[in-house]
Amino acid sequence: MSAQLKNKNSKLTTPAVPGRWRKEVERILITDAQLARRVKILAREIETDFRGREMVVVSLLSGTVMFLADLIRHLNLPLRLDFIGVSSYGAGTESGELVFTKELRLDVRGRDVLLVDDILDTGKTLSRVLPKIRALQPRRLKTCVLLDKPARRVEKIRADYVGFAIPDLFVIGYGLDFAERYRNLPFVGVLHPQVYREPGKS
Ligand code: PRP
Repeated sequence: MSAQLKNKNSKLTTPAVPGRWRKEVERILITDAQLARRVKILAREIETDFRGREMVVVSLLSGTVMFLADLIRHLNLPLRLDFIGVSSYGAGTESGELVFTKELRLDVRGRDVLLVDDILDTGKTLSRVLPKIRALQPRRLKTCVLLDKPARRVEKIRADYVGFAIPDLFVIGYGLDFAERYRNLPFVGVLHPQVYREPGKS
């Protein structure tokens, strides 16, 4: 289940972009309050499904930084945490070649694993990462993404837990970057097209 964004209304209700970011961020797509509410609900669903066994949360670097921190603080369960470093090679708005920069260290064999990512876009990342984890023979493997952009999917992948289904917009903030910037914004915003058309200036 995911929360659909009500685009028509959101323009009326979302607050203005803070002055410091107004040139780079066109508008706020998901506010910090909406994020906080939705992440709590996701955590409750995950808690119910994973109750009774210690879980391993595997998070993909680096875009999950804020989502992960907020999600796990609401998971009232015993868990262990590990990271996989994976990145699409090169800057820009297109997903390129995938490079693994950090491998999993914890043994997940026979464990209940929750794979966390910030956004499911083309699906190329999860379609490479999931078989790697499956090969380690976890007892159960579920996926959780904050954002799902189904319009851009090229791989047949769906996530078990989705925060928000979003339209095909270039989003930044709450961990998501453009050329490694904007991860610190407390909201999910739409990047102003002029920033990625003239990346040298940003
Ligand atoms: C982003 C994002 C996802 C992936 C999704 O990672 O964090 O992992 O792209 O895109 P896909 O579904 O098209 O594969 P990125 O490579 O930009 O690294 P980052 O997490 O460090 O920003």
